[in-house]
Amino acid sequence: MSKKIKQIKQLIKKECEKNNLDEFYRYHLLEVEKNALKLLNKLPEANNELVMLAVWLHDLQRIRQLEGDHQQVGVREAEKVMEEYNFSSENILLVKDIIHSHSCAGLTPTTLEGQILATADAMSHYTSDFFLWIATRGERNLEEYKEWALEKLDRNYNKKIFFSFAKKAIQKRHDALMQLLESK
Ligand SMILES: [Fe+2]
Ligand SMILES: [Fe+2]
Repeated sequence: MSKKIKQIKQLIKKECEKNNLDEFYRYHLLEVEKNALKLLNKLPEANNELVMLAVWLHDLQRIRQLEGDHQQVGVREAEKVMEEYNFSSENILLVKDIIHSHSCAGLTPTTLEGQILATADAMSHYTSDFFLWIATRGERNLEEYKEWALEKLDRNYNKKIFFSFAKKAIQKRHDALMQLLESK
């Protein structure tokens, strides 16, 4: 990991701590990092640095608890951080492009790096206690929770995972969660 990316990871960790988002850091961001590294291992032609920057900067709208569109505000905040760290305007543009489509709701990533982030983002929901964590936060009643989780699982599985080997890796967990949530 380059020095600048290490520093940005620390910055994001601190911002999460400050905003009471330690669990988001642990259950989501660290899992996205772990899955992105696995994907990069299998896809060595991708630009590692751009993907890892996008890993740390893709959810800044949530981390900074800002109003507005998750992706558009996220792109704006990511740009500010990258400018502070003196990244080239070319790299800033490329990372903004990766972040802009990471939710795969409307926009779809067209670059390999964008597809890696979207896939790692989706995989993180399977490789951690993400769904149990959200279920125990008391934000939704059971019916609301099931509806929310089923929609998220559907989008994760059908729209955000771009590589068949990645789909295979989370298949069992996806099926188990679907079975649990669809049961009456
Ligand atoms: Fe996001
Ligand atoms: Fe995310």
